[in-house]
Amino acid sequence: MALSNPYRPGAGHRPPYLAGREREKAEFERLLDQDVILENMVLTGLRGVGKTVLSEEFRPMASKNGWIWAGSDLSETVSVSEDNLALRILTDISVFTSSIVVEEHQRPIVGFTSFPEKVSVKLGFDVLKQIYENIPGLTSDKLKGVLEFVYSFLPAERNRIIFAYDEAQNLSDNAAKDQYPLSVLLDVFQSIQRKNIPFMLVLVGLPTLFPKLVEARTYAERMFRVVFLDQLDADSSKKAIVKPLESSEYPIKPTDESILLICDVSGGYPYFIQFICREIFDIWIQNDKASIPIDDIVVKLDTDFFAGRWARVSDRQRELLCVIAKLNNSDSEFSVQDIVSESQSLSKPFGSSHVNQMLSKLAERGLIYKNRHGKYSFAVPLFGRFLRRQEEFMQEVYPSKPPGRLF
Ligand SMILES: Nc1ncnc2c1ncn2[C@@H]1O[C@H](COP(=O)(O)OP(=O)(O)OP(=O)(O)O)[C@@H](O)[C@H]1O
Ligand SMILES: [Mg+2]
Repeated sequence: MALSNPYRPGAGHRPPYLAGREREKAEFERLLDQDVILENMVLTGLRGVGKTVLSEEFRPMASKNGWIWAGSDLSETVSVSEDNLALRILTDISVFTSSIVVEEHQRPIVGFTSFPEKVSVKLGFDVLKQIYENIPGLTSDKLKGVLEFVYSFLPAERNRIIFAYDEAQNLSDNAAKDQYPLSVLLDVFQSIQRKNIPFMLVLVGLPTLFPKLVEARTYAERMFRVVFLDQLDADSSKKAIVKPLESSEYPIKPTDESILLICDVSGGYPYFIQFICREIFDIWIQNDKASIPIDDIVVKLDTDFFAGRWARVSDRQRELLCVIAKLNNSDSEFSVQDIVSESQSLSKPFGSSHVNQMLSKLAERGLIYKNRHGKYSFAVPLFGRFLRRQEEFMQEVYPSKPPGRLF
């Protein structure tokens, strides 16, 4: 029988071995120790760096420490209105509140006059929703009311809840529509935490997330501990490559040379490690000393991961991206001024207001993000290297300069 390929390149797919992340787990443990919630967590990082799988890893850690875990993905539909967000939260907590039975006379804020005395009701979604609707005031008042109500029925030994939301960069306030779901979320948690209710937020998302939170409410800066996931270091990258093969089923032992090559080409980014190893596995299975067709794998990675993003930008935007890729600091952070200066050697250089405008368009497309200090970075890992591989295009932009390296 053919041995199955253990590597899992994909969105949110649990890797065969979750490498590294000890520091981040320790940080989460520290937040779990809070009796009064002073800090919530933002778990952020570039596409495919491992945010979702790490947050899944947090879940059993939380339960072991006596926390209840509620949460889901924040899709764009959830984020369009305050009511949608509130209903999302009610849905998430109803999963465990539905086993709580309360009696009508104990529930002054429910106020169902139609209920006979002392009727028993389970706190399922419909009941929570009715409570929500009966509370007067703004969405935030209603949501706070329901959460405080739920808290009052939780047993003391099991009253701590984590609200974990992935893809939280989708949350946005929308002044034109008079809808402020992001602000509502922050106001509600800030208010209940001030009342010493141990409900903690864990927001997971792309690097645009935290600046968005701070823009909505300046106090968000003090409310969150930001954990920025980076690529894996050399030792963890090696483990991510080698550990999945340690089971006795696999007669494979990658050489140090091939490990170094994978570390180099993947840049330590977990998705790329999984992708490259998945490709190589079938070759290794036949002969682990066989040479690795790394150029072909890189071409496949370009097609699968990068090409779609590249196809969606205009020629002028491509020129701008290539200018950025030429900067020495393109893989860390760069400024509008860096781009303007670098573009002076082009036949059509860029002016700063134009660069500003184009960067915000590219940010909307998820290719670039602006950090809190007003500098920019690529939002896609190793995007600079990909751009430098677009030799033909690079050569059009920079006719006199040699093309970049393959990886
Ligand atoms: N620590 C790790 N060790 C090994 N592989 C990992 C690790 N973290 C993530 N991966 C792998 O990387 C890939 C991407 O992980 P994940 O979907 O969690 O990233 P993400 O940051 O949530 O991505 P996105 O920004 O698209 O939501 C998956 O294939 C996963 O198995
Ligand atoms: Mg994810």
